[in-house]
Amino acid sequence: MGLVSSPITFVAVGALLSYLIFSRVQLYLNRRSFIKQHGCEPCPKRYNKEPIIGYDVLKETIANFNERKMLERNQKRYRDMGVNTFLTKIQFRPMIATCEPENVKAVLSKNFKDYSLGNRNHSFGPLLGDGIFNSDGEKWANSRHLLRPNFARDQIADLEAFDRHFRLMMKKIPKDGSIVDLQHLFFQMTIDSATEFLFNHSTDSLRMSEDDVNNEDAIFARAFMFAQEDIIHRDRWGFLNFLRPNKEGKDAIKICHTYVDKFVDQAIREHQAEMAAGKADNERYIFIKELVKQTQDKERIRNELMNILLAGRDTTASLLSNMFFQLALRPDIWAKLREEVAPLEGRLPTYEELKNMKYLKWCMNESLRLHPVVPSNSRFAIKDTVLPIGGGPSGTAPLFVPKGTVVSYSPYAMHRREDLYGPDAAEFKPERWETLRPGWEYLPFNGGPRICLGQQYALTEAGFVTVRLLQAFSKIESRDPKGGVWEESLTLTLCSANGCQVSLTPA
Ligand code: HEM
Repeated sequence: MGLVSSPITFVAVGALLSYLIFSRVQLYLNRRSFIKQHGCEPCPKRYNKEPIIGYDVLKETIANFNERKMLERNQKRYRDMGVNTFLTKIQFRPMIATCEPENVKAVLSKNFKDYSLGNRNHSFGPLLGDGIFNSDGEKWANSRHLLRPNFARDQIADLEAFDRHFRLMMKKIPKDGSIVDLQHLFFQMTIDSATEFLFNHSTDSLRMSEDDVNNEDAIFARAFMFAQEDIIHRDRWGFLNFLRPNKEGKDAIKICHTYVDKFVDQAIREHQAEMAAGKADNERYIFIKELVKQTQDKERIRNELMNILLAGRDTTASLLSNMFFQLALRPDIWAKLREEVAPLEGRLPTYEELKNMKYLKWCMNESLRLHPVVPSNSRFAIKDTVLPIGGGPSGTAPLFVPKGTVVSYSPYAMHRREDLYGPDAAEFKPERWETLRPGWEYLPFNGGPRICLGQQYALTEAGFVTVRLLQAFSKIESRDPKGGVWEESLTLTLCSANGCQVSLTPA
């Protein structure tokens, strides 16, 4: 007698089917009561037409990306549909897209525990391991607990160190008015300052000549860039990534790990020697030294350092590039900024002085509003949950979010909403910050328990570099090849596709 027709199999299959039907019915009933209890209504708008994979949306998104208009067209989707929240599909997964501050607040803060980062680890894991930027739940809480105290001190923003790197950058800026791409220099400067801050050893890429291209620091800087590009490819290929040959990506990651491991080993050795001698060198605040005081787990320290370098380097460089792109188009704003730094009479600002420069702060805020360097983001619902707005015919009722849904939110679209920022929302206008006191509608650094840890560091570095450039140059003029029409370059962060090409006149 064949197994298939045996009574035991028959009973087992029947039991399994009954169980499946029972659990589906139970899920349906539970959800129905959950939806009722929270007053949820269906979302009135759906973007995708092809219902299973969301192929139409995928195709359109790829075309938008290639035309460098992904963010602009994403914002247009909201406008065209006349809503701030809609349903769509992303590679088989249901997705809710929103630019509604109350919804973003629910995802990142009020209902924080209902969400995870989703499949971020698939793309970032090989380079970052388990670190703060890349983990969820307990692991993330441990990382945050370990790192947070190290960001609490104002001293992490070491102005003298910034100035050393700034002076090297200055050497690369032509003084005869010929064109320079500031974006390229800002990216070099921020990797130099971030590596010094984190590893106590700078890549010093601004000091390098052509003979140095094969030194260890240069190799690391290139490998780190390559490894970041590899993250983007891994993300795009998704579950098909195993089909992609990427030996170079793996090699780049290995180079990055080996490079950082060397500094971790050194910091641990020095810490042990100091402990044995009964004295500690407390002269200067050094991030890696603070970490080895807290843990001696080498892999953990390396992962955290790598996570922070990734979170902090391109972001600060992108803020500077995006802001200078605008400043180069606006001599009136440059003049006002120069008035603000004039009382320093050319000397370095102190941390307090920098913090008190109101107009400078408005310019940075405005740049991050118009071109948020993390322009879109997402979270993954790990249980059934609710968004406060987006349901019902008028879109004002709560919206049910089934477990397994991706909620994607767009600071870019939110920051440009005319109902929130006025009819001139698309303009670069620092003066609006005189009266603007936004809440969740302004989100360059995220909010809630995962709010950016490096916000003060970034604003201090960007502010410092801006002050020093204002002191050095009386005039800045755009030499943008597209006549000042900003085009997006969207990698892990958002910056200008054509760089920040300017001509500067010494003061
Ligand atoms: C203009 C510059 C910066 C911007 C706009 C920015 C923005 C952000 C955003 C939006 C997030 C949230 C990412 C997410 O949860 O999905 C984040 C997280 C983070 N940022 Fe920044 N960042 C900047 C600079 C920095 C710097 C300079 C550092 C460190 C030196 C840094 C360290 C971090 C860390 C460690 C996290 C992870 C926090 C966590 O998950 O608990 N950031 N940042």
